[in-house]
Amino acid sequence: MKKLWTGRFTKSAEEWVDEFGASIEFDQELVLEDIQGSLAHVQMLVKCGIIPAEEGIKIQAGLEKLQSKAKNSELTYSVKMEDIHLNLESMLIDEVGSAGGKVHTGRSRNDQIATDMHLYLLKHTKSIIRLISEFQEALVKQAEKHVETIIPGYTHLQRAQPISFGHHLMAYFWMLQRDKQRFTESLKRISVSPLGAGALAGTTFPIDREYTAALLGFDAIYENSLDAVSDRDFIIEFLSNSSALMMHLSRLSEEIILWSSQEFQFIELDDAFSTGSSIMPQKKNPDMAELIRGKTGRVYGNLMAILTVMKGLPLAYNKDMQEDKEGMFDTVKTVTGSLKIFAGMISTMNVNEETMKEATEQDFSNATELADYLASKGVPFREAHEIVGKLVLDCIEKGCFLKDLSLEEFKAASEQFEKDIYTVLSPVEAVKRRNSAGGTGFDQVRLAIEKAKQIVSVN
Ligand code: ARG
Repeated sequence: MKKLWTGRFTKSAEEWVDEFGASIEFDQELVLEDIQGSLAHVQMLVKCGIIPAEEGIKIQAGLEKLQSKAKNSELTYSVKMEDIHLNLESMLIDEVGSAGGKVHTGRSRNDQIATDMHLYLLKHTKSIIRLISEFQEALVKQAEKHVETIIPGYTHLQRAQPISFGHHLMAYFWMLQRDKQRFTESLKRISVSPLGAGALAGTTFPIDREYTAALLGFDAIYENSLDAVSDRDFIIEFLSNSSALMMHLSRLSEEIILWSSQEFQFIELDDAFSTGSSIMPQKKNPDMAELIRGKTGRVYGNLMAILTVMKGLPLAYNKDMQEDKEGMFDTVKTVTGSLKIFAGMISTMNVNEETMKEATEQDFSNATELADYLASKGVPFREAHEIVGKLVLDCIEKGCFLKDLSLEEFKAASEQFEKDIYTVLSPVEAVKRRNSAGGTGFDQVRLAIEKAKQIVSVN
């Protein structure tokens, strides 16, 4: 198999050197995008009279043949041919003869690879946006079932105030909404065509870049040919958006892991999303959540890797940039898989409403209620805080909770206490009453769920 650029060379590289430089092992992932780009390019070459129509037709037929072989995984690649572009070009020449050599007229691998990656991320960003919506739907459905399920809300991982479990789940809905907005916003910058920038300077052929951009479904073309082939911002942005998304999934993973522990027992994951231990028969491990928490690190790593690769590169293309692909493929796979797992895990998990409720009764997370109660009767909040703090201390010494104190004991702390204090201390009441906008009050949570449903049905 003869390389396609040997003209100025007098000796060939050793096989292991070729292997080191080749990207075909991983960039074959772009085979369909590469063919799609070539099809548009050839169509443009014919339209602009750069190659004769008969040859264009031949090349097109050859490319289509390769396309269907690629779809059936029937192509065999060679390391000698370095990358996906040269592999396909040499296959095309084998397929249609020397006319195949015209496909590269007015084009370079530099604008070609950039085009492939734009096409690839356009497709996958759209699919990630869809998957985020599906996961959001799963969250909304669970939240809807648990508007009135109460759970301790935490700060510093210490019980703080009781909240609606639905409200807790909906917090993730809104985080994901921001992720979705970020991915959607980035489409503008992905949907730009570098094709026709050539190696770096444009071309002498009378090409039509707008035409190929339209054929490929891009909204715009790069204004500057050097920028077109040097830019990897769109990949960095994708990895950065993916990092933020994974950070959210990782936080939820952490909560899932805690909630399903023996200590919390708030939820039980479906068997389909858990694994057992090879030695301890009793165990049911939240492996998927742990794995997603772990994979978050790998996505951050991919972002750091490309930022570092790009930081010192002079314009325009440098071979360093071949390192941009594996992290991108890996991130697409990780994010896609994690979102699918999460949608399934959340919709099938079992919620132990009783254990959650009991937890809210076995603590002092209703202390704020008491302080608010006094404050609403005119006691300055700072004083109320002090009075309630002392009552909590009393309880700890006596080994009881606030609701176990007698009215006399309350009165001894402040004359303002009346017997309605016991209703105020009920965790359910505490949640219900937090009806400020965006709060955990049941009515507010229902309102938020309605809003959320409209949002997911739109996209
Ligand atoms: N395999 C190369 C890459 O992924 C394609 C572009 C190569 N261009 C070049 N001038 N060597 O970066």
